[in-house]
Amino acid sequence: MNTFKKIRELRAELLNHRLKNKKIGLVPTMGALHQGHISLVEKAKESSDLVAVSIFVNPTQFNNPEDLEKYPRNIERDLDLLCEAGCDIVFAPEVAEIYAAPHDLKINFGALENSLEGKFRPDHFSGVGQIVSKLFNIFQPHSAFFGQKDLQQFFIIKKLIDQLSFPIDIHMVPTKREANGLAMSSRNERLTQGERLEAGLIFKTLQESADAILNGTPINLVIERTNELFKQNQRLTLEYFEVVETDNFTGIPSVSDPKKTALCIAAEIGKVRLIDNLLLNY
Ligand code: PAF
Repeated sequence: MNTFKKIRELRAELLNHRLKNKKIGLVPTMGALHQGHISLVEKAKESSDLVAVSIFVNPTQFNNPEDLEKYPRNIERDLDLLCEAGCDIVFAPEVAEIYAAPHDLKINFGALENSLEGKFRPDHFSGVGQIVSKLFNIFQPHSAFFGQKDLQQFFIIKKLIDQLSFPIDIHMVPTKREANGLAMSSRNERLTQGERLEAGLIFKTLQESADAILNGTPINLVIERTNELFKQNQRLTLEYFEVVETDNFTGIPSVSDPKKTALCIAAEIGKVRLIDNLLLNY
């Protein structure tokens, strides 16, 4: 496994592989890796000759400075995990390498960013669009792999690829979960054992709500029930729970296409913000 910190050196290495017609699969990450990331690497290995992973905690997608400061970082452990998983190339630049000059470009994703994560985290998706476009230009991969846990992000990046004509196949990889259903996330490192157990309620709520909707309970009642359930919980604070269509991530009063319907949730526990989702036909 080769690790690079500089764009110029990484590009030279990748060019060698591209000239040999090697198919490059890219897994963009912010590090603090867990089995969810490793499943992205494994998926990438199935269809790529060379798997590249970027590790970069991107400051422009954090709207909360405390969240950026507290974001877990553990590069040595990340490199061990990636080496074990059979990753070929790692790019782990410093912030100054990526944002050498001031970057004030804003990307607006229209309706897709007016709800859920976009609404609660102003400018978050502009920052994601900015870094992912940069990574696509630096790596020029054939395919790129993202986790379903960040479902709205997946559709934002799909839009970026379609509208900026990046010649990249995008793949969504299912969420990896702890035994109690808690979605694996780098942020889970900041939870106590008790909080981890309690946070299992997030996935339980998603499953029970999806089942209720499939059994004919109106969406507004399911949402009301979830709001009540979280009000009674001492540790978890619900930020949003919505049933949306994945075309625009806007709340819907009833289901018209189960394949395009997702239940999305964000909740806070002990100052750690967690998100999760379930496609209705899970
Ligand atoms: O999902 C993430 O870890 C980040 O948002 C990404 C896609 C690596 C961009 O910084």
